[in-house]
Amino acid sequence: MSNINNPFTSAFGLNYPIIMAPMFLVSNENMVKEAIRCGIMGTFPTLNYRKNEELEKVLKNLQEFKEANPQFKGSYGVNIIVQKSNPKVESHLKLCVKYKVPFYITSLGNPKQVIEQAKTYGAKVYSDVTNVEHAKKADSVGCDGFIAVGQGAGGHAGPYPLSVLIPSLKKNFPNKPIIAAGGIAHGSSILSMLSLGGAGCSIGTRFIASTEATVSDDYKNAIVEYDMKDIVLTDKISGTPCTIINTPYAKKVGYKQNWFERLLSNNSTTKKYFKMLVQLRGMKKFEQALKPGTYKTLWCAGQSVELIDEIKSTEEIINQLVFEMDAGKQTLDLQFV
Ligand SMILES: Cc1cc2nc3c(=O)[nH]c(=O)nc-3n(C[C@H](O)[C@H](O)[C@H](O)COP(=O)(O)O)c2cc1C
Repeated sequence: MSNINNPFTSAFGLNYPIIMAPMFLVSNENMVKEAIRCGIMGTFPTLNYRKNEELEKVLKNLQEFKEANPQFKGSYGVNIIVQKSNPKVESHLKLCVKYKVPFYITSLGNPKQVIEQAKTYGAKVYSDVTNVEHAKKADSVGCDGFIAVGQGAGGHAGPYPLSVLIPSLKKNFPNKPIIAAGGIAHGSSILSMLSLGGAGCSIGTRFIASTEATVSDDYKNAIVEYDMKDIVLTDKISGTPCTIINTPYAKKVGYKQNWFERLLSNNSTTKKYFKMLVQLRGMKKFEQALKPGTYKTLWCAGQSVELIDEIKSTEEIINQLVFEMDAGKQTLDLQFV
């Protein structure tokens, strides 16, 4: 397939308008290197590395890999959760700036600090948004683009379908690149997002079922075996609604915070610390769920599990998406007379 040239791909020299989305405990250095090799944008959350030295090592390795391989047209970026309850924002940002990370995705808070630092060396910052109001806030502090997170996404899904969210953002911000996220696991969906005015797609769930992902085979097999009807929202894990697979264990623990937890999350004095506690506890639960053979199966995934039938290498997944995009384009061309 020929390469795609638009404001997103050209800003980073990518072949294809695809982001391998940042996924807590799933994305890793190898997957990002494969993304770079295959001509797309590979990303990971900085929180995947508990110790600053570990994060520093990965950032250094990626910088060296990219510099040593100019023939690979992909690029890489990090996700920083800019919520006040993330105590690592400053130290992680400092390291990312030191190693000149080319691309940032900010989520769950005000991206101002990241944008200011990234601008010092020409990196780009896209902010996760689920509606036009979020987008206006991120725009007012100078973000370069948006990741429009729609219905059915893995993680903190948005409430609106991408078929409405993308054109609505495009109407309000005609000059900003908009990346569609949520429910995309087939190349023809990427084409449809481009035709809506999107500049690319951010794909998470499809890459969980990759040979390189750092999760148990049980989790990968669940991505293949469960369907879209099995995806439910829970606020028990991070305090913010998050999509998980409705395994027997998920059913047992329930999906809603109890009245006392809700009280602590809403009270102005306890809010920040309680959120930190809930998030720490949630991270631990997700970590436990990755252990092979565990019955505590809290597995984050989006509705695109419906479309995923096989565990494949990251490279095979990317090649398949590109192949399907091409096939989709030909099917469309045939219909125009
Ligand atoms: C297992 C998992 C973990 C995720 N972790 C993060 C994260 O740490 N930070 C973030 O901004 N988004 C996170 N996301 C959301 C993805 O970056 C992306 O927006 C989403 O996966 C796109 O929807 P899709 O899964 O339907 O492709 C996560 C998604 C999944 C499935």
